[in-house]
Amino acid sequence: MTQPDDSVPGDPAALPHDNRFARAEFVSSLIKPGDVGAEIGVNMGVFAYHVLLPRQPSKLYLIDPWVYGLQADVELDPTPEKQAFRDAEYQSVRGVFERYANVEILRMKSEEAFALFADESLDYVYIDGEHSSEAVTRDLMNYLPKVRVGGYLIGDDYGWTGIGPAVQAFLALHQEELLFLIDPYSERAGGQFAMRKIKTTPASLVSPARPASSR
Ligand SMILES: C[S@@+](CC[C@H](N)C(=O)[O-])C[C@H]1O[C@@H](n2cnc3c(N)ncnc32)[C@H](O)[C@@H]1O
Repeated sequence: MTQPDDSVPGDPAALPHDNRFARAEFVSSLIKPGDVGAEIGVNMGVFAYHVLLPRQPSKLYLIDPWVYGLQADVELDPTPEKQAFRDAEYQSVRGVFERYANVEILRMKSEEAFALFADESLDYVYIDGEHSSEAVTRDLMNYLPKVRVGGYLIGDDYGWTGIGPAVQAFLALHQEELLFLIDPYSERAGGQFAMRKIKTTPASLVSPARPASSR
């Protein structure tokens, strides 16, 4: 995790442009100017600022609770200091994006935020939040109905333990409605995946979302 640069709060120049940006090419090819999109898992706002915003969305929702400890396997031993760091990240993201009227920050978990969106109202959702197999499955399930036909569920870290199998299990369940795409440069790009929605999700396959409290 990168330290927010407190000397220039809200300055986009403080956002590092690291070598993971090979993934930008694949993701940018799927989204277009005027799209209504959402990113699940924003962290410092690096990907949102350098990749999603330049595609000129008519609206971009940035969803992250900025709570330390949700990813229990990598965020160990929550302390007030570690949470203060996450609060500083949130403030930095607010500072960076407040000048963009087309960006709305939703400081909440993705499993809470999805209920705010009407069905088939989003052109894409970029999934990069909690990386467990259960969480990715939950995000795919909750946001598939929110994406319009012709839109995309896109995600990072296909190669992360559990994410690839979770994506494939989800595809198996929704094979009539989804086309799978994979970034040809996945090994150097962190493993981007995408699913193009080609059909409306049948009501029988829309499972009720798991409430946040059951995590
Ligand atoms: C890998 S970082 C995101 C990086 C960002 N997409 C980028 O590339 O610049 C993962 C983020 O997911 C967030 N997160 C964890 N659980 C979440 C949840 N249930 N809903 C939304 N975001 C979550 C974390 O707070 C963290 O900031």
